[in-house]
Amino acid sequence: MSAARARAGAATEVRLLAPGDAADLARVLTENWEFLAPYEPAREPSYFTAEHQAGLVAHLLAEHAAGRCVPCAILRDGELVGRITISDVVRGAFQSGNLGYFVAEAVNGRGVATEAVAQVVERAFTDLGLHRLQAGTLLSNSASQAVLQRNGFERIGVARRYLLIAGRWQDHVLYQRTS
Ligand SMILES: CC(C)(COP(=O)(O)OP(=O)(O)OC[C@H]1O[C@@H](n2cnc3c(N)ncnc32)[C@H](O)[C@@H]1OP(=O)(O)O)[C@@H](O)C(=O)NCCC(=O)NCCS
Repeated sequence: MSAARARAGAATEVRLLAPGDAADLARVLTENWEFLAPYEPAREPSYFTAEHQAGLVAHLLAEHAAGRCVPCAILRDGELVGRITISDVVRGAFQSGNLGYFVAEAVNGRGVATEAVAQVVERAFTDLGLHRLQAGTLLSNSASQAVLQRNGFERIGVARRYLLIAGRWQDHVLYQRTS
């Protein structure tokens, strides 16, 4: 690990989302909408309000309480700069969850996502007792693919027309990591 990456790691923290994060989430999403839009579902303008984000956080925390997801804030030097979520947790013989994340453009390229994914993977395989995490990236999303590969995810293959992103059913490269 480089010194720069070690410093990024030290400053990057992942913790469970809290109701008080709604305003910060709304601000980060608003400031980064042009950057994030190619990677996200199409959103109504109301999505970017603190009120909508408060409802979303409440929903995600209820899903968390039911054991179906782990929604987390990504903090850098104490400031919320992104979100990382394990969703669609399935137990039984699967013990698997789906990983998704974003990091504000202003702090991209400093190892924040790599460190956030590392912390969440660690929790998934210890505290949560999961066996597998899956993530999907657009074919062109080299940055996210680098994040996953650096965290030991292996490429499964291409799933055609996998997710409705930016208004189009788009192909994704699927990755997985097992415990
Ligand atoms: C993808 C994303 C999370 C990466 O966050 P980040 O904090 O910048 O990630 P990191 O700094 O840990 O690592 C990014 C790596 O990708 C590399 N990278 C960035 N842009 C790249 C590009 N266009 N082509 C190839 N590699 C690229 C960086 O150089 C870095 O690798 P390095 O450390 O070996 O140099 C962030 O850009 C983002 O939120 N994008 C929009 C939403 C998104 O794509 N979410 C993931 C959906 S699967």
